[in-house]
Amino acid sequence: MSSDVVVELDGVRKCFGPRVIFDDVSLSVHRSEVVAVIGPSGAGKSTLIRCINQLNTFEKGVIRVLGHEVYGTEEGRPPLRRDDLRRLRTEIGMVFQTFNLFPHLSVMKNVMLAPQRVKGRSEAEAAAQAQELLEMIGLSHRKDAYPRQLSGGEQQRVAICRALAMEPEVMLFDEPTSMLDPELVGEVLAAIRRLAVDGMTMILVTHEMMFAKEIADTVVVVADGGIAEMGPAKEVLSTPKTERARSFLERVLLHTGGDTGPQAAASEGGFDAASGGFDDPTLSWSREVDEKGLR
Ligand SMILES: Nc1ncnc2c1ncn2[C@@H]1O[C@H](COP(=O)(O)OP(=O)(O)OP(=O)(O)O)[C@@H](O)[C@H]1O
Ligand SMILES: [Mg+2]
Repeated sequence: MSSDVVVELDGVRKCFGPRVIFDDVSLSVHRSEVVAVIGPSGAGKSTLIRCINQLNTFEKGVIRVLGHEVYGTEEGRPPLRRDDLRRLRTEIGMVFQTFNLFPHLSVMKNVMLAPQRVKGRSEAEAAAQAQELLEMIGLSHRKDAYPRQLSGGEQQRVAICRALAMEPEVMLFDEPTSMLDPELVGEVLAAIRRLAVDGMTMILVTHEMMFAKEIADTVVVVADGGIAEMGPAKEVLSTPKTERARSFLERVLLHTGGDTGPQAAASEGGFDAASGGFDDPTLSWSREVDEKGLR
């Protein structure tokens, strides 16, 4: 594992019971790299990133994260020691689709809890850090609110702060905007964009193709039990080389035809690699993205 590789998967197979979800998945994520994971529903995107922070076990292969080495259960190696697992989880921040905030704690306490409990920070230290993070994300004025009093976008930004409070080396995002009303998506994407600009290593499962194209270095298309295609984001999203990636992206493009509907989107250009694929400015959904300032 070269020194700037933060996450490495080598020949990973994951099954649920007799069902193979994916097999022979290999992937390297370098420091400060942003990897977007895309693919059809049920392909195993969430499962893949859950294997990385050991929320799911896996059967074959090895996953290396920041010097920790975790083998598949069938490899005949001892599992990660309990304190190594705890350390691994503190080094990886995870943000889920559903915000998973502690409902009985204020915004401030949500962000302070793990650093106090896991890292032994004093209350004053944790409060100072939480204040700084909430300011960074534009939510310090809501620090005494409870999760139920926040919009979905605000809750997700608090969830991002809570993960950052552990000062992780890598952040995993699992469709962080898919539960949000469209007008709240932009504020969460802006927070993620800022992390990318600051050099955070990130693996981001997303359906936001324009955003992936803008901030990701690498796109991984998960489909049909493995990685269907992987490469530089702009190349994979504009000119996919495999039929599987192409058909998935074509469907996504039609689905996001916006106000003009799928038929109009198709007749306006559809997926046309020769004309730059997703760059086609006539597509209504890409105009929407422009209006939200996401490009
Ligand atoms: N705990 C589980 N037990 C059994 N099967 C599971 C479990 N978790 C996920 N699966 C199955 O594994 C497959 C992959 O699930 P996963 O959630 O990783 O897909 P996904 O690509 O993230 O989909 P989506 O885009 O809908 O979130 C699905 O068929 C799912 O039903
Ligand atoms: Mg998922």
